[in-house]
Amino acid sequence: MTYGYIKLPSGFVLDCRNFCGENMITPRDIEEFSFSVQEAAQAVDELRRTGLAKAHVSKDGLPEKVLFTRLPYIEAGNINNPESIRRLKEFGQSLRYQTDAVISFGIGGSFLGNKVIFDVHCGEFWNQLPPEARNGYPKLYFSGNNMDPRRTEELIALIRSEAAVKAAHRGQPYRIVLVVISKSGSTIDTMSTFMTVYQSLREDIYIKPEVVAVTDPAAGDHATLLGRLAAQQGWQRFAVPDGVGGRFSVFSEVGLITGVTVGFDIDAFLAGARSMDEACRSAALNENPALLNASLKYLAAVKYGRDIEVFMPYADYLKSTAEWYVQLLAESLGKRRDRAGREIFYGRTPTVAVGTTDMHAQTQQHQDGKKNKVLQFIRVANWPSNPSIPNAFPQAPALQDIAGIPLGEALDAALQANAAALTGDGRFNATITLPELSPFHLGELLYLLALSVAYEGELANVNAYDQPGVEAYKKFMHERLKQIKRRQ
Ligand code: PA5
Repeated sequence: MTYGYIKLPSGFVLDCRNFCGENMITPRDIEEFSFSVQEAAQAVDELRRTGLAKAHVSKDGLPEKVLFTRLPYIEAGNINNPESIRRLKEFGQSLRYQTDAVISFGIGGSFLGNKVIFDVHCGEFWNQLPPEARNGYPKLYFSGNNMDPRRTEELIALIRSEAAVKAAHRGQPYRIVLVVISKSGSTIDTMSTFMTVYQSLREDIYIKPEVVAVTDPAAGDHATLLGRLAAQQGWQRFAVPDGVGGRFSVFSEVGLITGVTVGFDIDAFLAGARSMDEACRSAALNENPALLNASLKYLAAVKYGRDIEVFMPYADYLKSTAEWYVQLLAESLGKRRDRAGREIFYGRTPTVAVGTTDMHAQTQQHQDGKKNKVLQFIRVANWPSNPSIPNAFPQAPALQDIAGIPLGEALDAALQANAAALTGDGRFNATITLPELSPFHLGELLYLLALSVAYEGELANVNAYDQPGVEAYKKFMHERLKQIKRRQ
């Protein structure tokens, strides 16, 4: 049997055939491994049914459910339910032709998925378009995903100058909404930039800033710092749900709020995730794309030493998807200990590349460097517009060779050439094909990747839902900040 190719009825394709063959994964490897695959499939089924993940506890050491597999299902009583979706859409509609700009503050899981949605839906030039071309939705900026003083100051200066122009031409205040996203409600990066921007904009006579808080919904003594501020100030609130870690939260109000802010179809996005979840119910490797993806990458790592994953979409607007995946893979699987507490130092190091851009930068390493990588390509089959390269210089014979070829086909030829060259040298690579870059297929893709780390966590026997390693630097950082305060 050939393993490695699954096409879903939606047209979504996972093709991992270039993981299998001579000096690569063999049918025997897969056979020997089939019991572990069965166990992983059962454990993820159990997770779906009960929310229980073996050995998982919260940061505070308390029992905590893992609920991301519930997010695609919009049902009464679920995290995403008809009422919560209605409220989100109402928020999005309230911005149209009313709000000039939104700034979304957040970092890690409270930023990366939002940037994916923005890039796929809006592209690079959204904020330069007139409101009509944005269908009345506001401009959207991000902040808080770093504490870079220059960019923060430049963002403030940009908003202030736009507000001054609006006041001069239309005599109206500039309306801006600051959406602050933080599960813990106290992340330094997010809160420091939010306070810096908020204070400056508040002091500007031409600007009317409003704030929306997206945080853990706990109230009273358990409320987060941001939750308490929201209650005191009367800010509108949305939730980072219990049981949903940052890197899985793009399917919750965390990511969906960005969707409704720019008119992205959140129903189609969740339908794509749901359709992928349903496609991943089988315990048979050649039927379940997430199980197949996880199993082959796990085997490639433990049997063939391929413990770097280059995530390489052939699409500019999927670069942030690669960045989102970096967090998903690194935080979920980069673990010192297995679930029995033994030191194992598991994980693949994720890296970002974009085709064709990085064929002119990284491919040398991928093709000739250490055989320690897997490459994950993402291909878009159909582009909404796909101009053919014109015959602009008939006098230049070399350029005639490419004239008449649609850009999308040239891009595809580059991907196929890259895959063929790598395979020819025994280098593991897989290609995911999205029929088009739509909310539905984006939902399928992100959910496939999220579910894959759940399966791989089972295979590697690591807790894919905690991130104890990120606490280590925080102690040093808090001490450094205290020292700075004392010096003032
Ligand atoms: O995945 C994670 O848990 C982290 O990346 C967090 O999302 C990130 O640290 C931001 O945390 P918070 O949402 O609490 O501000």
